[in-house]
Amino acid sequence: MKKIEKKRAKAKNICCIGAGYVGGPTMAVIADNCPEINITIVDKNVERINLWNDDDLSKLPVFEPGLEEIIRRVRNKNLFFSIDLEAKIKEADIVFLSVNTPTKTKGIGAGKARDLKWFESCARQISEHANGYTIIDEKKYLTCKNWKGYKRYS
Ligand SMILES: NC(=O)c1ccc[n+]([C@@H]2O[C@H](COP(=O)([O-])OP(=O)(O)OC[C@H]3O[C@@H](n4cnc5c(N)ncnc54)[C@H](O)[C@@H]3O)[C@@H](O)[C@H]2O)c1
Repeated sequence: MKKIEKKRAKAKNICCIGAGYVGGPTMAVIADNCPEINITIVDKNVERINLWNDDDLSKLPVFEPGLEEIIRRVRNKNLFFSIDLEAKIKEADIVFLSVNTPTKTKGIGAGKARDLKWFESCARQISEHANGYTIIDEKKYLTCKNWKGYKRYS
């Protein structure tokens, strides 16, 4: 049996799909702590991306204490906001999924189960556009502890 060579690849490009309450702040903190990694957050919502890119930081679409300062330090250095999902998936070594998964309002599991249609559509887009080996992370509950783990991995 062919021996599989173990390589410790260094991730250089991250793409996060979903510029919402989870994706935006989490990627901002990773960008601030890992200046050697380029991160692009992509979203199909043009208005939301424009707000993340606005010169006036009081217009950021998400509020977290200290977020404005972090965005000021990293935006357009190693953190970017874009609607070009296809190109950014192609470039990515790691893709984080941070799209909405609301509770289903109809069908099986209505009122209880998560509606995974946005999640599924992203999975299809990744399978269409990803290049070579790409790590996919369903970034729903990534905590600070996990993030440090990520840094160790990289
Ligand atoms: N907000 C919270 O406090 C919180 C806490 C824990 C877990 N979560 C989970 O984290 C995930 C993300 O939550 P959130 O609050 O950041 O959601 P959100 O609604 O703020 O943002 C999701 C973004 O994903 C984008 N999106 C959806 N499908 C897309 C696609 N195919 N291509 C590109 N963009 C797409 C939407 O336009 C939206 O801007 C959800 O699964 C949620 O359940 C959220």
